[in-house]
This record gives sequence, C-alpha cells and structure tokens, in this order.
Amino acid sequence: MVDARGPGEPTALDLLGGDAALQALVGRFYALMDQDPAYAEIRRLHPPSLEVSADKLYRFLSGWLGGPPLYPERYGPPMLRARHLPYPIGARERDQWLACMRQAMADLGVPAALAAALEQAFARTADWMRNKPGDMPGMPG
Ligand code: HEM
Repeated sequence: MVDARGPGEPTALDLLGGDAALQALVGRFYALMDQDPAYAEIRRLHPPSLEVSADKLYRFLSGWLGGPPLYPERYGPPMLRARHLPYPIGARERDQWLACMRQAMADLGVPAALAAALEQAFARTADWMRNKPGDMPGMPG
C-alpha cells in the first residue's frame, strides 16, 4: 500500500495523474509483457487474453495507490499472495515483473522521483509474491 499522506495531501494516485493515467500505465504494462521477449517467462504464466488481468491490476492498484478501492467490488478480497500461489514465482519472475513496470512508468513519463518511490513499493509487494520452494520471502538463496 502506498499511503504516506498527511491531512489534505494528494494520494499516490493523484500524483500519478489520476484514474486515466493509471489505466494508461496498466495498459502499457501488459502491452509490454505481451510484446517484449524480455518478459516472455511471466507472459507465459498469464491467460491468452490479458484483458481481465488488466482490469484486475487496474482495480487493485487504484486502492493500493490510495484511490477508490475498485478491486473488491468486482473480485472480492484481494488476498494477493494467495491468488498468486497457482503461479510459480521466484526471484526471476519478480524481477521481470518489476522491470516491466519500470519500463511502463518510463514510457509514460512518470516523473523520476515518483517512479522511484513507486518502484520501492512495488518491489516490496513483488518480493512477497515469491512462492517457489527454496525461493520464498525471507529465505536465503
Ligand atoms: C512478482 C511477480 C509477479 C508475477 C509473476 C505475477 C503474475 C500474475 C499472474 C500470472 C496472475 C494471473 C492473471 C490473471 O488472473 O488474469 C496475476 C494476477 C494478479 N496480479 Fe500479479 N504477478 C506478480 C506480481 C504482482 C504485483 C507486485 C502486484 C501488485 C502490486 C500484482 C497484482 C496482481 C493482481 C491484482 C492480480 C489479479 C488477482 C486475481 O484477481 O486473481 N501482481 N499475477
């Protein structure tokens, strides 16, 4: 969750440019995942059509960035780690996901300081998704 606001301060979603900017970011993220061979390994984990994946990520990130919590109203409790358990995720997959998001933010011109702050938050969440035996959060190697 990215929410270090004081009273009256903008949310991370506001800083990003609001709902339309978030939809554009998620669209770019999945277009890159679909097209760039650098992300082929994580692309293979996803369904043939990325349309629903994009809707889910957009809705989840809306709430995660301090904006309206759109995910639960359509998909229920996020339970993000549990929902990733069917997909083998280790350091390689984590790093591909983060690189894809970094490239999407750069392509959309997210200001460097904001992109760096978001990347730190994404990295914590992505690291928590690791679920391969011997490659779990908090385990050496
Ligand atoms: C660490 C590397 C990651 C990999 C390899 C990965 C992969 C996947 C895959 C294969 C799916 C299923 C696609 C679908 O249901 O359409 C998924 C779903 C999802 N991912 Fe990730 N993911 C990663 C990290 C993240 C992170 C860091 C976030 C959020 C910051 C995230 C948010 C979501 C959401 C919201 C869903 C939909 C869950 C559902 O409703 O079933 N993922 N992810």
